[in-house]
Amino acid sequence: MPDTHAPAPLPAALLSALQAVLGPKGLLTDPGDIAPALADWRGLYQGASPAIIRPGSTQELAAAVRLCARHEVAMVPQGGNTSMVGGATPDESGRQVVVSLARLNRIRAIDPVDMTMTVEAGLVLKAAQDAATGVDCLFPLSLGAEGTATIGGVLSTNAGGNTTVRYGNARELMLGLEMVLPDGQVIDGLRALRKDNTGYALRHLFVGAEGTLGFITAAVLRMFPRARENEVAFCAVRDEEAALALFRRFRDRDEGAVRAFEYLSGIGVDLAVKHIEGVTLPVSERADHYVLVDLASSRPEAGLRPLAEAVLEEALEAGEVLDAAIGESEGQRAALWRIREEHPEAQKREGASVKNDVSVPVSRVPEMIRRCSAALAALIPGSRPVPFGHMGDGNIHMNLEQPEGGDPAAFLARSHDIMDCVNEIVRELGGSFSAEHGIGRLKTDMMESWRGGAELEAMRRIKAALDPAGLMNPGKVLP
Ligand code: FAD
Ligand code: MLT
Ligand code: ZN
Repeated sequence: MPDTHAPAPLPAALLSALQAVLGPKGLLTDPGDIAPALADWRGLYQGASPAIIRPGSTQELAAAVRLCARHEVAMVPQGGNTSMVGGATPDESGRQVVVSLARLNRIRAIDPVDMTMTVEAGLVLKAAQDAATGVDCLFPLSLGAEGTATIGGVLSTNAGGNTTVRYGNARELMLGLEMVLPDGQVIDGLRALRKDNTGYALRHLFVGAEGTLGFITAAVLRMFPRARENEVAFCAVRDEEAALALFRRFRDRDEGAVRAFEYLSGIGVDLAVKHIEGVTLPVSERADHYVLVDLASSRPEAGLRPLAEAVLEEALEAGEVLDAAIGESEGQRAALWRIREEHPEAQKREGASVKNDVSVPVSRVPEMIRRCSAALAALIPGSRPVPFGHMGDGNIHMNLEQPEGGDPAAFLARSHDIMDCVNEIVRELGGSFSAEHGIGRLKTDMMESWRGGAELEAMRRIKAALDPAGLMNPGKVLP
């Protein structure tokens, strides 16, 4: 990693103009206030910056962007700063300002008839979920960082999470966007329409752009009927194929009922039990493979319990399921989910780990887990593969934990070998090297080999058209 430079002070004229536009709450220049925004959640990067711009409205943001553009100052959008790929932090040059959307966090409108809500980009995902619950609806996007990640962040990364199998990724939950272009122009696309074919769908260009084309400042999001019945089962399963067979059993019986289908490895669950207070194994014996299945329906008498019991019984008889625990109360269901949701934190506490956020066609998941686990264990003897995640949509986090008691720095120095090892297999299986976390800074050097040629060239042309001076989140996404 390059050396981190001292921040380059902003030109005096820019500083005073920003102060005038943003007021005292809207501009932070004290190094102590800025520090938390400079390092990413995984601790992979340590950046430097002279300031954090924290606008309180879209108009303030637009005015600040116009000023930065005039002075050719690069801008790094930041929401909750939970990026897994170093997407939301400035580089080491000390010349990029962080633009935090945290104060743009209002709910502008919520309509249970249209089943939409219009919210600002800095609203925390959990607050959006709670707002939907408040009008007896559901906003279904759900992921481990939901208490910190923001709507602007989940849209800019097209986040997936646990419920993609039923509701799709963040993109599918968005109807309209308000955007600020790199020159400060505002596009008001906050239309709450299910049908709106009016030229290029610029809103979709901004979803997944990771802040490289401009800012998302507000969004119209889709809501759904809230669940009136919910069952969660935690199952020890025979192997990866049995996990897939169980998914098919549930899907074939009632596809609409499956809200999440998550695969967990024995070691991943061991680490959650070891590091996270209150997490315990809910089945009688340790296994090498587990599944968490969440069934939900908006119908009050949907019969999910008999459905779950019938499918699990069949799978037990077939030898696919070894043991299963079904949550008997909301508290127990939440406790089963915690085993899954604490996986990233538990792996962090165990030491250094390299993340491989990959996807393959659902049918190839068992083969992918087996082959990657074997290849990784051979690549770094003593290292511990921890595959887990969203099996129902083919996205497994093929993570590798450092050898027990080993040197974290020496292990991390092999990060690129580890990622290459997994990606080679994933490519053979027709998969993607970046399923849901995005490219950020971590994976830019993989873009040429995976998306090179006309595809990457088209992306570069779009970037050049919207951000000719290259001021939006430089060094991210495009190599
Ligand atoms: P940030 O980290 O602040 O930013 C992410 C990217 O979006 C950056 O490139 C940033 O520049 C850009 N950006 C942020 N806000 C804006 C905006 N308003 N306009 C333009 N660009 C913007 N991800 C998943 O997809 N699925 C998971 O299951 C999942 N689980 C996670 C679990 C944990 C414990 C953690 C720490 C992360 C997890 N993530 C997951 C990754 C991360 O939470 C998501 O990528 C999330 O969408 C990021 O939201 P954020 O507000 O923190 O964005
Ligand atoms: C998750 O699903 O928990 C995260 O996306 C994966 C990770 O931490 O690797
Ligand atoms: Zn995930």
